[in-house]
Amino acid sequence: MRKNIVAGNWKMNTTVAEGVQLAKEVNEAVAAAGELKCDVVIGVPFTHLTAVKEAIDIEKVGLSAENCANKEKGAYTGEVSAAMVASTGANYVILGHSERREYYNETPEILKEKVDLALANGLKIIFCCGESLELREAGTYEEFIKAELKDSLFHLSAEEFANIVIAYEPIWAIGTGVTATSDQAEEVHAFIRSFLAEKYGETVANDTTILYGGSCKPSNAQELFAKPNIDGGLIGGASLKAADFMGIVTAF
Ligand code: PGA
Repeated sequence: MRKNIVAGNWKMNTTVAEGVQLAKEVNEAVAAAGELKCDVVIGVPFTHLTAVKEAIDIEKVGLSAENCANKEKGAYTGEVSAAMVASTGANYVILGHSERREYYNETPEILKEKVDLALANGLKIIFCCGESLELREAGTYEEFIKAELKDSLFHLSAEEFANIVIAYEPIWAIGTGVTATSDQAEEVHAFIRSFLAEKYGETVANDTTILYGGSCKPSNAQELFAKPNIDGGLIGGASLKAADFMGIVTAF
């Protein structure tokens, strides 16, 4: 049975002190909420991982990095390896976010290397895919998403694939206030699941958590999460306030 997950992606926001405070608020709210219908994960900057790990109960709130290096270790000034991320106690890493692909030139080949190193270090991966407005309007978005998944993930075995969470994040909906309608998102999620089934079979496809990301907020989360193929969200802006984030967590 697949899991529902609501994951925050703080991006490049908060100082360490602010991040620890936010993490504590989320942790307390999760503890107070009792039985939840989803797993909760927070994705935080590298600099925050160790301090945030101390501030949360990792059994209740998962901890994710927002990236990791495509090299194992060595002379790569400024990079942070998957082993380093894992050594903080974090259990997830977000890979392939459109901001990384676009602003830091992360290619499918680089992402494939990151995927392998993350898995080798025991991290679960939230792997992002999603099309630009141009591709949506041209109607070629399915081919584009297929290539994003195939080129960086389809070398994995079915067993390895159990550690992958997919996040569908249409670029035109990220941080824009424009959310994909629940029908638009459901259509792509169903398509992604059928594509996974072609490669890995129905069981793996049905067990894979597929998150929606892009201006997801308390006011629209319930409608999105009610769709059969939408198993939660990857939340940017609305994850920076504990109350908003919890409004999404409790939308299930
Ligand atoms: P947003 O970002 O919720 O601010 O649109 C989502 C994401 O980029 O993960």
